[in-house]
Amino acid sequence: MEVIIVKDNQEAGTVAANIIAERIKQNPKIVLGLATGSTPITTYQTLVKKCQEDNLDFSRITTFNLDEYKGLLPTHEQSYRYFMNQNLFDHININKAQTFIPSGIDLQDPEQYDNSIESAGGIDLQLLGLGVNGHVGFNEPGTSFDSKTAVVDLAQSTISSNSRFFSTKEEVPTQAVSMGLASIMNAKEILLIATGSNKAEAVYHLVKGKVTEQWPCSILQKHSNTTIIIDKKAASLLEK
Ligand code: GLP
Repeated sequence: MEVIIVKDNQEAGTVAANIIAERIKQNPKIVLGLATGSTPITTYQTLVKKCQEDNLDFSRITTFNLDEYKGLLPTHEQSYRYFMNQNLFDHININKAQTFIPSGIDLQDPEQYDNSIESAGGIDLQLLGLGVNGHVGFNEPGTSFDSKTAVVDLAQSTISSNSRFFSTKEEVPTQAVSMGLASIMNAKEILLIATGSNKAEAVYHLVKGKVTEQWPCSILQKHSNTTIIIDKKAASLLEK
């Protein structure tokens, strides 16, 4: 695991976007795995700039997002489809028909999503954020390392932390559809970003902790091509 320590989230976004842009130039038909949350917003802003100012070409890429809230329509302002359109897809020359996000509504056969990823040739580069409790995607502590895409229950702490985005408590989703840990580990390369002191404990378990299902992120220690970009605050427990 390569660890890159940066000053802040802005710099993390620049470093991550540079790596992603490099990979797109090397392989214009790359399959990217994408993440939501506040952490990758600066990465997406930088990618938008690279498209608009430097003609970085997204026209032939394919994307698969990690997760979606159960029950939210793509038009809901808190859906991850809405987030991706707003933060990235609406501002770059991507073919939206080639952007995939698990459906939060049609929950018949979630594992079909893994088949779609496989049919596209697998994910070349997976971007990840990190939950305060070590979740990746929406794979909460206790999720099997063998998990594939599934409907999952959100941890109470995740529900509380997400409640800031909804006007009433009742609206906050308690379940989601998420790529599993095995789905994520299948990616050829992984790029995880974590910034802020509230991520320091999870970052410790990601880099130095025991590999345990209690800290889902720890499975990434077993991936042979993972880079993590963290700021000084998120790295604060690593030196001790
Ligand atoms: C959500 C998402 C994760 C994300 C995490 C951290 O739970 N499903 O993919 O990594 O939030 O969010 P943030 O980046 O806002 O801290």
